[in-house]
Amino acid sequence: MNKPRLYSGMQPSADSLQAGNYIGALVQWRDLQQAYDAFFSVVDLHALTQPSIPDELRAKTRRTAAQYIAAGIEPSQSTLYVQSHVAAHAELTWILSTITGFGEANRMTQFKDKSQRYGNENTTVGLFTYPVLMAADILLYQTDIVPVGEDQKQHVELTRDLAERFNSRYGTAFTVPRAVIQKETARIYDLQNPTSKMSKSAESDAGVLWLLDDPAITKKKIMRAVTDSEGAVRFDRENKPGVSNLLVIYAALSGRQVPAIEDEYAGRGYGDFKKGLADVVIGEFGPVRERALALLDDPAELDRMLAANAARASEVAERTLADVYDKVGL
Ligand code: ADP
Ligand code: NA
Repeated sequence: MNKPRLYSGMQPSADSLQAGNYIGALVQWRDLQQAYDAFFSVVDLHALTQPSIPDELRAKTRRTAAQYIAAGIEPSQSTLYVQSHVAAHAELTWILSTITGFGEANRMTQFKDKSQRYGNENTTVGLFTYPVLMAADILLYQTDIVPVGEDQKQHVELTRDLAERFNSRYGTAFTVPRAVIQKETARIYDLQNPTSKMSKSAESDAGVLWLLDDPAITKKKIMRAVTDSEGAVRFDRENKPGVSNLLVIYAALSGRQVPAIEDEYAGRGYGDFKKGLADVVIGEFGPVRERALALLDDPAELDRMLAANAARASEVAERTLADVYDKVGL
């Protein structure tokens, strides 16, 4: 059996993942892992492009891995590993950077956004070459599909260009991957600021639902979510972004359709709707949180599992890297 290969990852940039990471990524990863030979990475090398404290980064990396597993990624079925445990990522990045045009890299809109936010002082060469590291991540595993958010589409395009360029210049070493862009309905917005995407790195976390939040906090955040003055539980992204976002979260976590939820709450107030949503979110996140905390209670076992998975990833990655070194004349 030769299943197509899938690659995806997240940065360990917070102690907990947020509802958008769960709905927009983890749930889909979990569902895809049967049909694909899946590699899921905790991309700690990428996380270094933001200022971070060493012990905190290590802890966030473990916590992120624990949440992958708690959400249903099976380390016996998928390869779930920490990026820095596989040296080939950094090595292939160098080779790929020698075939990446400076102007080409300079066109990446995420770099423009991030460098503006980070300011001169924190805008590093690493932040600039981040997409080349991402290309190496994907190409090392002969990946067929890369499930990503819309914001990563340009990086996957660059990855395809680099793969094709290398293959035609030196001989075929890489599978040319394809991005699978997440559905718009899987996009979750900040509860306090429902036109900007919920994010691990939001400036304030008042509108962020953390997977590992205490249920009482989750409930409080939902009860305080921004709505509107109409008082009707009705989906209208443009005029009612707050309520629409809550409906999308409700639907995603309950497996129900938005119109059915609208019907259920017809003629009832936002208070009732928010209480119902809090029950749904806590019902789904509660067991995930419990499992993650249990895994984190035994860090030695978690580390052992991650090491075994990194060995599996290395085997595949080293094969690609050896071929690449050979082809370029190293
Ligand atoms: P964050 O902004 O929380 O740091 P990342 O950029 O690390 O998120 O993204 C990790 C994964 O989670 C990606 O697959 C991304 O598409 C998904 N994701 C992140 N935020 C959201 C969101 N608000 N809604 C849906 N998916 C999201
Ligand atoms: Na699998």
